[in-house]
Amino acid sequence: MKITVVGAGAVGASCAEYIAIKNFASEVVLLDIKEGFAEGKAMDLMQTATLNGFDTKITGVTNDYGATAGSDICVITSGIPRKPGMTREELIGINAGIVQNVSAALIEQSPDTILVVVSNPMDTMTYLAHKVTGLPKNRIIGMGGALDSARFKYRLAEALDAPSSDIDGMVIGGHSDTGMIPLTRLATRSSVPVSEFLSTERLDEVREATKVGGATLTKLLGTSAWYAPGAAVSTLVQSIACDQKKMMPCSTLLSGEYGLDDICIGVPVILGRNGIEKIVELDLDENERAHLAESAEGVRKTNDLLA
Ligand code: 2OP
Repeated sequence: MKITVVGAGAVGASCAEYIAIKNFASEVVLLDIKEGFAEGKAMDLMQTATLNGFDTKITGVTNDYGATAGSDICVITSGIPRKPGMTREELIGINAGIVQNVSAALIEQSPDTILVVVSNPMDTMTYLAHKVTGLPKNRIIGMGGALDSARFKYRLAEALDAPSSDIDGMVIGGHSDTGMIPLTRLATRSSVPVSEFLSTERLDEVREATKVGGATLTKLLGTSAWYAPGAAVSTLVQSIACDQKKMMPCSTLLSGEYGLDDICIGVPVILGRNGIEKIVELDLDENERAHLAESAEGVRKTNDLLA
């Protein structure tokens, strides 16, 4: 199993690190445009192999797409991250050109690969990857919902003063401060709906804290987060590589599901060796359906900026 990660910045390096630590891939190629940067990150990570107990071989290359040839999965993290006060949508001007070139270069070397898009604004960059590559819809996956759901579960565990392992929950919709839809109705603590333990007001607070989860970290760190994004990517990539058939929300091209068409947005999917093996249609209530339609409008507005 060969995996390429494009972009050796904090998010890309964190993806490579978590993929290696989980020890399911034979090879990770880390690629960056900055001379020697990916090579340095790869060497540093390889020097953790005996300490962390993994056999994955990580190599770093400077813009050498030839080294990525034959990758089973390619993760695109390249582009600029947001700075405090910026929305993900504001990155489109620079990141669209980068994602366009990177997707095309990757597919040239690995025509059978599965693409995982992390660059922001993620739903629009996933849509752009479709337009550029024309890959079948099961082979392009936007990573946002898995991260947003992890942040939702963190906030729920905090509100409930419960261990994280007790919590289950999911965020659907666009990967943006206004587009995320934390599904509090379906979230549970050990199979019991969280609404049994938390007031409507407290659940509203959890929902709002989840939606600005990335922005809160960007303000604290001065740049966007990397540990949880890297861990979320590795979980998604492992489900594909090991054919685990895990269900998690990912940005996928919809063709009528949830009443939406020609848009990439976060909904639950089953991830296995063929990428997105199934889009799961939840029975949303009226309020959730309205939020999803509103979130889709926001994503479409950003998509329109691609033209
Ligand atoms: C985040 O929410 C990078 O979009 C990513 O942290």
